[in-house]
Amino acid sequence: MSSQIDHLLTETRRFAPSPEFAASAVGTAELYERAAADREGFWADQARELHWHKPFTQVLDWSNPPFAEWFADGELNVAYNCLDRHVEAGLGDRVALLWEGEPGDDRTVTYGELTDEVKRLANVLTGLGIEQGDRVAIYMPMIPEAVAAMLAVARVGAVHSVVFGGFSADSLRTRIDDAGAKLVITADGGYRKGKVSPLKPAVDQALADRGAGPQLTVEHVIVVRRGGNDIEWNDERDLWWHDVVPAASPDHEAQAFPAENPLFILYTSGTTGKPKGILHTSGGYLTQAAFTNRVVHDLHAETDVYWCTADIGWVTGHSYVTYGPLANGATQVLYEGTPDTPHSGRSWEIIQKYGVTIYYTAPTAIRSFMKVGRQVPAQYDLSSIRLLGSVGEPINPEAWMWYRKVIGGKKAPIVDTWWQTETGAIMISALPGVTETKPGSAQVALPGISIDVVDEEGNRVGEGNGGLLVITEPWPSMLRGIWGDPDRFVETYWEKFQKQGYYFAGDGARLDDDGDIWLMGRVDDVMNVSGHRLSTTEIESALVAHESTAEAAVVGASDETTGQAVVAFVIIKQSYLDAHSPDGLATSLRQWVGEQIGPIARPRDVYIVGELPKTRSGKIMRRLLRDVAEGREVGDTTTLADTAVMSVISAQLK
Ligand code: WT7
Repeated sequence: MSSQIDHLLTETRRFAPSPEFAASAVGTAELYERAAADREGFWADQARELHWHKPFTQVLDWSNPPFAEWFADGELNVAYNCLDRHVEAGLGDRVALLWEGEPGDDRTVTYGELTDEVKRLANVLTGLGIEQGDRVAIYMPMIPEAVAAMLAVARVGAVHSVVFGGFSADSLRTRIDDAGAKLVITADGGYRKGKVSPLKPAVDQALADRGAGPQLTVEHVIVVRRGGNDIEWNDERDLWWHDVVPAASPDHEAQAFPAENPLFILYTSGTTGKPKGILHTSGGYLTQAAFTNRVVHDLHAETDVYWCTADIGWVTGHSYVTYGPLANGATQVLYEGTPDTPHSGRSWEIIQKYGVTIYYTAPTAIRSFMKVGRQVPAQYDLSSIRLLGSVGEPINPEAWMWYRKVIGGKKAPIVDTWWQTETGAIMISALPGVTETKPGSAQVALPGISIDVVDEEGNRVGEGNGGLLVITEPWPSMLRGIWGDPDRFVETYWEKFQKQGYYFAGDGARLDDDGDIWLMGRVDDVMNVSGHRLSTTEIESALVAHESTAEAAVVGASDETTGQAVVAFVIIKQSYLDAHSPDGLATSLRQWVGEQIGPIARPRDVYIVGELPKTRSGKIMRRLLRDVAEGREVGDTTTLADTAVMSVISAQLK
């Protein structure tokens, strides 16, 4: 890490926007001036880009921090903003989704068609008793119905909780129970890595396997047929989408809901074992998602073909697949599968096929493309690309430069966008027509956003120094809380800098001499693997839940492709050590974690050790384990209860 930091600080390459790009850019320098002069007025202007059934008269209510309200006396319908208003403006024939299935089947969905589907589904939901405020879990592959499901839930004022299709039945159950979902919308299965990956069976398992757990709140399951895989059916509970949706009325008038009506819950990993249900509401969220999508991605909805590769199971898929682009009337690619199926040029093939102009992906994907080599993208015509984006983790300057040259043809500006599930929308990024970009730096707070880097006491560190990233003023798309746990909301984000009233993001950052921000990774026990957030504690809990494990410690070790990788150190009970080979134990533990949480949480390495490094008070010193996992000389061990333990561990791993 320290050599990486040195490297970053010597980065001197600069890329100014071309005059042609700047001339027609959506985001301009005036936005900064306007926002600096009147921050709330600036956000009110952005909010007025939406359709309000009842216009708001108040902008921000911060009288009860950290519980913010934005545009609170206004009323709107989020789905109406993403659909009907475009159709009413005569854009019903504009393509909303250019859908590409992994096997190569494709479908085009216009705004008119999507509106029709969402209206019918909204009628189905109402018929099933879904009302304002009810929670609906969505566990789906990347198909148009997934987007329609989110919008239909929003349309009736209910709250969706999308669970990533790669999560296990267990993770799904925890999320369904925590939210008290009344309905699940799923598919039989979806295509991933060349085969059908089943989803409905996991829903059945999540709903059936109650044990001593909470009572089942789910009344119905709506199932889209996609994979064609065999599934079990519960006549009382399950409904086929293709039976109920086409049969429903296409007439549905969007009702207005208050700006602060909850829109969605999205679970994310924190520093404890239990995932947090991050709560977002309607008016402020949609305002900032749509605004940032326009100015950061330089979206010209009439002409651009936009592609954000995120799954709808993550916040990026919420803000930059569903809500931002559709609120803006954009035409976008939606791809079901993985970028290397059936061949390593799949992404470039899609860009060529649809003439993608804006491409937004994660550094981990870029690094795996680099590994395969530039000869693969070179076989495709990528000349349509005019803007590139990066999100989810720091992008190293090498990957940035490769992205620019090989994918962007040395002309497309790159925006490195920093934000979080909690922030709801992009917070730090270049504006591509304004900012001179620097490889590896996310750079500047967006207009209307106030960011700083401070020390442990909350004092500004100033240019040239490092510290903790904070958000110093409330913002429209900020989380409104953690579902069912207001205390945890306050503790996690607001207690550390309570005196100043700052939001603590959990990221380390540096300011360079120009005042540009360089993100330095998490400062807590949260890992970032392929741009996905994982909690060390959550994986440790899964490991010790296995009968063979006595104790476990997990660290995020740097990894060439995935940014960080999960590395586990486990102490195995003697009886298991006697009866099984270490390799066999390690394999079954990797598999176990995959089943408990999901394949993304599966450790890259499992090391079986005799002891773990602990302080005198019994706290595991993960820093030392990270040194070992990254093949470095082990750091200062003087605070260990037993200073010899690290040499024993290091020797064991050689
Ligand atoms: C964490 C949030 C933002 C949507 C996807 C991830 C890291 C995110 C960047 C970036 C450096 C980044 C941070 C942040 N992160 N974007 N451009 N540069 N780090 O959302 O799962 O909520 O994770 O991802 O560490 O805290 P998330």
